[in-house]
Amino acid sequence: MRKPLVGTGWKMNHGIAETEGYARRLAPLLAAEDLRGLDLFVLPPFVSLTTAARAFAGTPVAIGGQNMHWEASGAWTGEVSAPMLREAGCRFVELAHSERLEHFGETYELVRLKVDAAIRAGLEPILCLGESAEDRRMEQSDSVLHEQVMTALAGQTAQTLPRVVLAYEPRWAIGGAEAAPPAYVARRHGALRAALIEGWGEAAAMATRIIYGGSVSPANGASLIGLPDVDGLFIGRAAWTPEGFAAMVRIVAAEKLRD
Ligand code: PGA
Repeated sequence: MRKPLVGTGWKMNHGIAETEGYARRLAPLLAAEDLRGLDLFVLPPFVSLTTAARAFAGTPVAIGGQNMHWEASGAWTGEVSAPMLREAGCRFVELAHSERLEHFGETYELVRLKVDAAIRAGLEPILCLGESAEDRRMEQSDSVLHEQVMTALAGQTAQTLPRVVLAYEPRWAIGGAEAAPPAYVARRHGALRAALIEGWGEAAAMATRIIYGGSVSPANGASLIGLPDVDGLFIGRAAWTPEGFAAMVRIVAAEKLRD
């Protein structure tokens, strides 16, 4: 009942011309597949969003922003709001990526305001969660994740929760050589699912997607997407080319759409 999701955040890569080229090359690669059972997304930089909306129109790929402000408008120089993302053609918005937390001082209290604003505007937030290497060493990964979920999603109800996508991205696995081991991912996704059940009840929790990100690649994708509580893959480097993205989509389709 949870539709599998595959997508890529481009970070500060792919301006307008590259976005057009990516979309043009991706379309024929995906056309050969029946992807109705999957949700696909790309998250370009802000300046490329309107180009992306036009270039991906008519393909199964939805677009989203990589961040947003919690207010709808106002004196917030350099910021972009949820209604602006909607107007640019976004379905999704990524929130709380570890690079935002680390380099721009974002906290989960602020992220909560952003989740609330995204939902109000009709966006589907992709909420990043993850423990640091130190948290992992101290064996406090699940308590850290619990705290992040409860803080960021405090404003949500059982009705709105399933509009949020949880992206489990262990901070120590992002941009590295290897993803987290499947058994480790399975335990964290189980703990996240349990936190959702505790906070919002069984039905809402079971309808909410939890995807994995952090050094996902063609080599490890199948072993991650095959895990019971992993509803999709959130990919960085391995999907920054259309060929890479299409390869990851095929891996998820082969696992999730095979019946
Ligand atoms: P990566 O990026 O796949 O290149 O590790 C993942 C992310 O930052 O979400």
